[in-house]
Amino acid sequence: MTFLFNSDAKRGAIFADAFAQALPGIPFSMDAASVDPDAVRYLITWTVPADLPRYRNLEILFSIGAGVDQFNLAAIPQPVKVVRMVEDGIVRMMQEYVLLAALALHRNLPAYLDRQRQGVWSPIAQTPAQDRRIGILGLGMLAQAVLERLKPFGFQLSGWSRSPRALDGVTCYHGAAGLEAMLAETNILVCLLPLTPETRGFLNAALFARLPQGAALIHVGRGPQLDQTALLAALDSGHLSSAMIDVTDPEPLSADHPLWRHPKIILTPHVASVTQPETAARAVIDSIRLHLSGHDPIGLVDRARGY
Ligand code: GLV
Repeated sequence: MTFLFNSDAKRGAIFADAFAQALPGIPFSMDAASVDPDAVRYLITWTVPADLPRYRNLEILFSIGAGVDQFNLAAIPQPVKVVRMVEDGIVRMMQEYVLLAALALHRNLPAYLDRQRQGVWSPIAQTPAQDRRIGILGLGMLAQAVLERLKPFGFQLSGWSRSPRALDGVTCYHGAAGLEAMLAETNILVCLLPLTPETRGFLNAALFARLPQGAALIHVGRGPQLDQTALLAALDSGHLSSAMIDVTDPEPLSADHPLWRHPKIILTPHVASVTQPETAARAVIDSIRLHLSGHDPIGLVDRARGY
């Protein structure tokens, strides 16, 4: 029974240490070439290796990241459990980034950065936090953790999900009608949706048109969810005020892409949240223990939903 680690050696060394201490009965390997493929029960990777069928006894395929959209789920044999990364480090980084972005857009930072570059000393009337509503698309574990972090600042909070949810202090919406209702009152929209066929192109001209005049966007989902041309048009027309974007399509953007230098956009290179090896190793070990005692691992992917 072997655990095969298919990622960089630096993170692998941290996983190897954690496994040696917590699961000494499970051999840990970072070398696919030297491992007996029939012994591999667990594999962690970012992309699915082309020779996956070699691992005939694979039980769990772990994604090293929070998303599994980079996997072709249909090509993974049915008995294999697919698990996305749910770990404390990712959660904390996402909380930090969305808080940073929400405060930056709330306090008009893109406009002030632009004025600074132009040497213009010119205050903007500030809207109080309690008069702004932050709406999150997606109400999964990351979104819920982010909402908790936003609460002390006094913003009005909403969230939208496919199926109904109830969260303390958050106005929850679901379904198509719920989406329209949430957008109509959202001043800062946060996208934390997983990438699936339904969410591809979700942030488009029609959606932006439903937001109130002057709304802002924080995009921390996946690049292909955003129609970048529609975003630029909405910013240029003044309908949207600003955006903080961490994911693009493609990544990286070409050097001359207009998103780089748009004065109303703050752009970061897909760094909002990154798997932290120490906490990730603990999460994977916990999942294997659950699996070995007949329970579902944490972050088990529902293949029909795609996340
Ligand atoms: C980052 O985007 C991840 O999936 O962890």
